[in-house]
Amino acid sequence: MLGVGISPHRGRLPPWGDRALRGWHNARGDSARRMGETAGFMPKRLVEIPLVPVVGAVPAPAAAFASEGLRRSASVDCFDFIPSKYDVLYAVLSALRRGRLCEWGSGIGINIGLAQILGFDAFGIEIDARLAAASRGLLADFGLSAEVETGSYFDAHRDAEVYFNYCWPSQMRRVEEHFLSVAPSHAKLLICHGASDIRCKVVAFE
Ligand SMILES: C[S@@+](CC[C@H](N)C(=O)[O-])C[C@H]1O[C@@H](n2cnc3c(N)ncnc32)[C@H](O)[C@@H]1O
Repeated sequence: MLGVGISPHRGRLPPWGDRALRGWHNARGDSARRMGETAGFMPKRLVEIPLVPVVGAVPAPAAAFASEGLRRSASVDCFDFIPSKYDVLYAVLSALRRGRLCEWGSGIGINIGLAQILGFDAFGIEIDARLAAASRGLLADFGLSAEVETGSYFDAHRDAEVYFNYCWPSQMRRVEEHFLSVAPSHAKLLICHGASDIRCKVVAFE
């Protein structure tokens, strides 16, 4: 059983699914919303929406890539690197519309590699130069082309449809505020509340 967190939504959103969410945004009037955002007077907040992961085993080649990543990560001395459960993320991503995915703190590169295997245009931002270098080596060795930028995701920015982050609990509020301030309004934030507890949050306008 995958430990994906599903909790009731508390925002004004329609029945779930990408299509429903897009319709809801359109119904609110995209251009009016953008004007309000630009002028800075449209209050927005994050609301959690349910995830319906595709449950099943990670295919063998993808699992072999992830296992090798975990093996290599053991030799990279980085205090901040604790991997999330890649099989949980794989199940979550399998259920999402493909698009650009940016991982904030991409570690050894397992998640962006799996995202690419699933058909996402994946990109990582990693602050630890040794991890970033090791992830580039891992991805290249498996024929994957997901890019990794060395730097802080609070400074470097990439537009994406999906952002993934696993950070210290004390950092989560800052990460969510950062997402609210820089991500496209249609983007989803997949944020870990634990290594195997992925929650999905989206922007809601007041
Ligand atoms: C808990 S680990 C998670 C790694 C990976 N995302 C995963 O789920 O397996 C957090 C990662 O974020 C990186 N990190 C922490 N703060 C960062 C920042 N401001 N910008 C970029 N990377 C950061 C750490 O170096 C580490 O690799």
